[in-house]
Amino acid sequence: MSVEQEKIDALHTEIETVDASFWETYKPEYVARGSDCLVFKIPDHANIVVKLSTHHLASALHWYQHNEHKIPEDLLDDPELQEPLQQATAEMDGCARELRSFFGPEKVPQTRYVIAKIPVLPEAMGVLFDSKKPLPPETLAVIQIQKIIPEIIERTSKSLTAFFEDPEDDHNQNYGRVMTQSYFPSHVAMNEEETLRFSDKSPDIKEVVTDDSLTETVCDFLRTAIRYTNETQRSLDTMGPDNAVLIETEDGSDYRLPDALMPANNSEWVDEIKNGIRLFLTDPNAVDFEKLGARVVLFGSYLRFINGLAAHYNLPERIDLFTDTVEAENIPKLHDFFSRSKTAWHTRRNVPNNEI
Ligand SMILES: Nc1ncnc2c1ncn2[C@@H]1O[C@H](COP(=O)(O)OP(=O)(O)O)[C@@H](O)[C@H]1O
Ligand SMILES: [Mg+2]
Repeated sequence: MSVEQEKIDALHTEIETVDASFWETYKPEYVARGSDCLVFKIPDHANIVVKLSTHHLASALHWYQHNEHKIPEDLLDDPELQEPLQQATAEMDGCARELRSFFGPEKVPQTRYVIAKIPVLPEAMGVLFDSKKPLPPETLAVIQIQKIIPEIIERTSKSLTAFFEDPEDDHNQNYGRVMTQSYFPSHVAMNEEETLRFSDKSPDIKEVVTDDSLTETVCDFLRTAIRYTNETQRSLDTMGPDNAVLIETEDGSDYRLPDALMPANNSEWVDEIKNGIRLFLTDPNAVDFEKLGARVVLFGSYLRFINGLAAHYNLPERIDLFTDTVEAENIPKLHDFFSRSKTAWHTRRNVPNNEI
C-alpha cells in the first residue's frame, strides 16, 4: 500500500470515530468563511478542515428560541432538535456518495457529515444572527469533516466559478436569449461570446479557458458534470469561489470538488422548472415566479457555464434535460419566462433570510 493511501486510510478511521464531543476534543481554529460555512483547521491534524454550516446552526438556535419553555438540560437530546439535523446529514451523505461515484474519490475530497455539539459563543453568534433573544451555552449543528486541499490554502489553485456579467441596460432581453441557448442546446445554437461573458467574480475562468495546457482536465470535468446532471437531474454548485478548483499536479493538472454539492432537494428542481415552462406556455400569469424564479436562475447559471464551455471546447455532449418539454417553434416564447424569473430572483435576493 502506498504511503499516500495509508495516510488516507488513517484519516478515514479518524473521521469515522468523530462523535458529539468533537469540539472539546479537537479544538478547531477558525480559518475562512464561505457563503454558508465557517471553516476551521484542527491543531495537529493538517489533513483536515472542519466546516460548520451556519444555515443549520441558525435553524437549531431558532428552534431553541421558540422552545424556551423546555427544560435546558434535556434540549440537546430532544428528538425535535435532532431529527431535522439527522435527516440533513443523511441526505447530504447520500448526495456526496453519489457525487463520488460519478467523479471518483480522487476528485471529491473525502467528506463526512456529522452532528456535533458545539459551544455557542455570543460574540461570534452576534455577528451571524441578529437576535436579541437569549442563546443557549451550546447547541447541536451539522459539521463536515473534510480532507484538506492544500492548494486552496496555498492559493495555487484556480477556481472554476460561474458568475456572469449582468449589464443593467438591456440585461433581461439578453438574458432570455442566453437562457434558451443554455436550457435547449439541441434546438438553439450557442452564441459563445454572449453565453460565456463572465463577471469579475469569476477571476480565474478567463485565464483557464485560454490556457491550452488545461484543456484536457477541464474537458474531463465537463464531460463528467454533463453525465452527472443528465443522469441524476442534479446540478453542481459552481457559483461559489473554490467550490470547484483546478490544481497543478506532477504530470499536469487535475480538479477537485470540495463544495460542489447542491442541497438534497436540487433533484426536484428539473421537474418543477419543466412544469413551470409548460404552464407558462398555456397561462403565463399562472406561474409563481416568486417561488420558481431562484431555481430557474441558479439551474440556468450552471447550464450556461457547463453547456457554454462544452461549446467552447467543441465537445459533442450537452446537459439536455428540457428539450422534450417544448416544441422547437415555441422556444422563443420562453425568453420572457427567463426574464421574469430573473426579475423575481433579483427582487427576492434583497429580502433577508430568503430560502431557495
Ligand atoms: N477541503 C478544503 N481545503 C481547503 N480549503 C477549503 C476546503 N473546503 C473549503 N475551503 C475554503 O473555505 C471556503 C468556504 O468553504 P465552502 O466549502 O466553499 O463553504 P460554503 O458552503 O460556505 O461555500 C472555500 O471558499 C475555500 O476557500
Ligand atoms: Mg462554497
